[in-house]
Amino acid sequence: MVEEIRVAKGLEGVIVDRTAIATTDREGNLLYRGYRVVDLAEKKDFESVAYLVFHGKLPSMDEKVQFSEFLVKNSRLDARVLEVMKLMKEPNIMNDLRSVVSLSPYSHKTNGELLMEIAAKMPSIIFHSDAAITGRKEIQVPNTTYAERFFSLLTGNADRKKAGYLEKLMIMYMEHEFNASTFALRVAASTLADPVSAVTAAISTLKGPLHGGANSEILQYLLKFRSDDEAVSFVMDKLARKEKIMGFGHRVYKIKDPRAQYVKSKLRTLREAEKFLSYAEAMENYMWEEKHIPANLDFYGALLMHTLGIEEKFYLPIFAASRVFGWSAHYMEQVSDNKIIRPQSEYTGPVGLEVP
Ligand code: COA
Repeated sequence: MVEEIRVAKGLEGVIVDRTAIATTDREGNLLYRGYRVVDLAEKKDFESVAYLVFHGKLPSMDEKVQFSEFLVKNSRLDARVLEVMKLMKEPNIMNDLRSVVSLSPYSHKTNGELLMEIAAKMPSIIFHSDAAITGRKEIQVPNTTYAERFFSLLTGNADRKKAGYLEKLMIMYMEHEFNASTFALRVAASTLADPVSAVTAAISTLKGPLHGGANSEILQYLLKFRSDDEAVSFVMDKLARKEKIMGFGHRVYKIKDPRAQYVKSKLRTLREAEKFLSYAEAMENYMWEEKHIPANLDFYGALLMHTLGIEEKFYLPIFAASRVFGWSAHYMEQVSDNKIIRPQSEYTGPVGLEVP
């Protein structure tokens, strides 16, 4: 008798390895290295959480100063790289991010140093990719945090309060165990490919609309509504046509995405968000009543970035510049206890054909 094969399409429900970096607990909270991510976002800055995710423990004062200095020191791009970017004038920043990261020189460095150098350069790559098209100039803001520097690169604006909101969102985006881009990175790492190649694979995977690419599509509908009713009608039409609505659904969170709820609570503190927040909640409530599908981080994340005055072209690059710290931790974890990731498939094609 032929043994029945159960194909785990999309690897749904399959546990492929162990990780000590992140998980979701029984109450549905996302944890980084054991700490609830919403507590980290309330009490810690981006640099401390990035250090925690990458090194596995919160930094001491000295460690944090050193780490922050490392990120600043390594943020600048090589003059030759800047020349290439000017020649490319690539309109899609994610394409530049993927291409420019792949140009990183990787000799003479440890994997850890190289990964943190790539992470440190991401905000500059994003800025210069945009500047190659728009001709924008960098504004100099002294004594700033990682989020403040990044916010000013994105918006040309040094508003510390707004940068603080971006910082919390970036903490939410930083890590999410075996999501698609991290898994792609771990597959590459499991072949013992170098960190540059593995991060390039992760960026390429993040770009798809079912993963990170969802966040730039959300505003395309949200900004068009003029009432809660219009927002609900939009959902009804989409569901009737059996089309997916970007910003809803998640492989892990079937009831609530804690990150989305946290970002929504932050949006409630911004008066400028009031109108769109009402449309967003109308959609969320209807979607839940009809389909029991929750809003995800991208849904409220896109609305927060819009409220902060960040242009849509930066949404996915911001996700990448945050998640790179999670990717880096996963690279190190994969190679520290490696087995090549090589699943198998059920063959459905013909057999025994005669070659004519
Ligand atoms: N809009 C409408 N229906 C949705 C939906 C959405 N955003 N997300 C899931 N569904 C429906 C599916 O059509 C499917 O219905 P069916 O069982 O009647 O066929 C069911 O919910 C299960 O969805 P499925 O796509 O199989 O779940 P998944 O775990 O494989 O996929 C996502 C998860 C995130 C890829 C999926 O929810 C999605 O495509 N969401 C939109 C993109 C997005 O926002 N991505 C960002 C994720 S953070």
